[in-house]
Amino acid sequence: MKTSTSILALATLASALPSQSVNKRACTSAVKLSGSENVFKSYTLHANSFYKAEVAEAVKNLSDKSLATAAAKVGNVGSFLWLDTIANIEKLKTELATDIPCKNILGLVIYDLPGRDCAAKASNGELAVGEINKYKTQYIDVIAGILKAHPNQAFALIIEPDSLPNLVTNIDETACQQSKSGYEEGVAYALKTLNLPNVVMYVDAGHGGWLGWNDNLKPGAEGLAKVYKAAGSPSQVRGISTNIAGWNAFDLTPGEFSKATDAQWNKAQNEKLYTELFGAALKTAGHPNHAIVDTGRNAVTGLRKEWGHWCNVKGAGFGVRPTSSTGAELVDAFVWGKPGGESDGTSDTSATRYDSFCGNDDAFKPSPEAGQWNQAYFEQLLKNAKPAF
Ligand code: BGC
Repeated sequence: MKTSTSILALATLASALPSQSVNKRACTSAVKLSGSENVFKSYTLHANSFYKAEVAEAVKNLSDKSLATAAAKVGNVGSFLWLDTIANIEKLKTELATDIPCKNILGLVIYDLPGRDCAAKASNGELAVGEINKYKTQYIDVIAGILKAHPNQAFALIIEPDSLPNLVTNIDETACQQSKSGYEEGVAYALKTLNLPNVVMYVDAGHGGWLGWNDNLKPGAEGLAKVYKAAGSPSQVRGISTNIAGWNAFDLTPGEFSKATDAQWNKAQNEKLYTELFGAALKTAGHPNHAIVDTGRNAVTGLRKEWGHWCNVKGAGFGVRPTSSTGAELVDAFVWGKPGGESDGTSDTSATRYDSFCGNDDAFKPSPEAGQWNQAYFEQLLKNAKPAF
């Protein structure tokens, strides 16, 4: 009697839990993706419930109510969900309990390496240099377990923005020297462990103004290839992500910084050129070279005083919506990597993670901590969107 009561109680509880709800639009058989095809030709980047909720809240708080209709549309744009802490793996579970249509691919950013963001401060993470075992067992293994438990769901992963590029150009900085072995071991572990049939992966390769310099192309490509090979050349790695949370135009000619005094040393003056030049270097180095490019906030050019400025660029606008029609052979899709409206870093000079780049003249102020919502910045992105909403 006692047993049957508790079973009944459990069953009632279970039916009330979202994780037990049945996704009526889910695929009915296992998804089989491969690094040898462009999955964005057959799948739509999913508009996740977290960005939807942020935008819905923003619509309520608009300072300019005439933007309401346009603002509401932003929530329907597909974007990547950032798993930026161990605790935020919960977001993935919550999202998987919603009705994701079979032909939608869920985009996730893997972003929690020990000593994260070694050359800057705004996105320093929760794991200290040396906490590689914690990264493996409490972060990557847990995510891999969830992805395995959802074989009928397709996933696209962006692997650790900025990490390997930092090892190429910022290795003179002590923090990056200390992070190096953890980044290489961590990214290789992520690629190996997340190499599942329902997953495709894009390893982050910075942008044209970073690894696009003549002297950086070869070491950059070799740096990525070394890690990819250490992971056993996983079949689900399709190539690279570029311009993540970035500002570069895709095919502006002449490029935004082509008149700079040092322009002769960089032929990757837009992201299309970058994917071609870096793509060729990757091929030589033995790394898959297809790309996805973040166009979330790149509508307006000519805003940055220097190419390397990365924090909450003032005057930016939402760019082209996610699509696999890129017109470029190596570019699988334009995606929204950074959820537009979330900050790149705080402008509060007294904060521990204050980075002077967020105090630059061309950075929007005030801005909250990285990842936090910035209502005024969202409204600016919307007003300057191209195409308009
Ligand atoms: C932050 C993350 C955040 C991501 C997306 C990064 O700059 O460090 O915490 O999730 O941006 O907004």
